[in-house]
Amino acid sequence: MLLSDIFEKYPDRQYLMFGGKGGLGKTTFSAATAYYLAKKGKRVLVFSVDPQASLSDIFEKDIFGQGNVEIIPNLFACEVDADQRVKNYQDEIRQKIIDMYGMKKIPEEIESYIQASSAEPAMEESAIFDAVVDIVVKGDFDYYIYDLVPLGHALYYLSMASIYDAWLEKITGLREQMREYDKAIAAMTREDDTAQDEIYNELMYIKNRIGASSKIMTDTKKTAFFFVLTPEEMIIADTENAAKLFAKYDVPLAGYLVNRVIDRALLKENIPPYLKNRIAMQAGALDTINKRLGSSVLSWVPEFDSEIKGLKSIRDLAEVMFEEKLS
Ligand SMILES: Nc1ncnc2c1ncn2[C@@H]1O[C@H](COP(=O)(O)OP(=O)(O)OP(=O)(O)O)[C@@H](O)[C@H]1O
Ligand SMILES: [Mg+2]
Repeated sequence: MLLSDIFEKYPDRQYLMFGGKGGLGKTTFSAATAYYLAKKGKRVLVFSVDPQASLSDIFEKDIFGQGNVEIIPNLFACEVDADQRVKNYQDEIRQKIIDMYGMKKIPEEIESYIQASSAEPAMEESAIFDAVVDIVVKGDFDYYIYDLVPLGHALYYLSMASIYDAWLEKITGLREQMREYDKAIAAMTREDDTAQDEIYNELMYIKNRIGASSKIMTDTKKTAFFFVLTPEEMIIADTENAAKLFAKYDVPLAGYLVNRVIDRALLKENIPPYLKNRIAMQAGALDTINKRLGSSVLSWVPEFDSEIKGLKSIRDLAEVMFEEKLS
């Protein structure tokens, strides 16, 4: 099957993810796929939470922390600024404290507490998670392409969704129970229980958002997850292990994309021994890929003679990836 067939055959799969080890071509393929789909008239958002701002690099445009930036008609890119999101959280918390207690200024001890808690890695993770949920639940695009950070993190993200889910299940369950008690007490004492309800509603709101996003991520009908690999034995082994782990989280695997395949025809030319060796090494690895993943490989992408940056080379890559001429 061709990569383009996947999109024709499964038009409901509007959440696309490219996973794989560091530096294999996830961002490059995310950008090229976004370009291809936009050229086909689809409204596409390609987004990343990577602080390295790699979409800015590939599109040669500063988009970090700028919201959805239009690259070409129909193609939008977004780089989430997690630090900024954490700062916004802090401001919100400060404002809430000021409002609740009618203070003019946050007391020193509370301020240092706020500072300390936002230095926690969990805070940044949750800011990122929240940003992604924001993006996917809004639903303004035909396609969402999530340019993932290297594998470990993607797995972390998925496990986080299920942990969050379990945790919230528990909390909301408890709260529901509490609410029953509260109601009984309130009825006896005629106390107002709207404050309690606010907390409960907030929890339900979070729960529904997380539910919606983790459902999307693991919904075979809506999601296509692609693995990017290169013809190297170590990478193949790592990819297979990762694929097993992803299966454990029920992530629907759409197929594999093999990147950086060196043109074998070069062997007929006068080329340096190191290149000959690399081609021989790739030949072995390509055999392994064919044997183990064969029919699940959707595209074989050649090694380009320069890095892929800017719209022209993105288009060149998209054309070979999708085996189709584009304007
Ligand atoms: N087929 C190719 N030919 C030549 N260069 C390529 C090819 N594919 C990717 N590259 C280059 O390899 C580098 C890494 O690619 P890319 O940034 O897409 O990887 P990544 O998987 O997103 O990395 P990270 O894990 O750091 O996010 C980039 O400089 C890119 O231009
Ligand atoms: Mg990347």
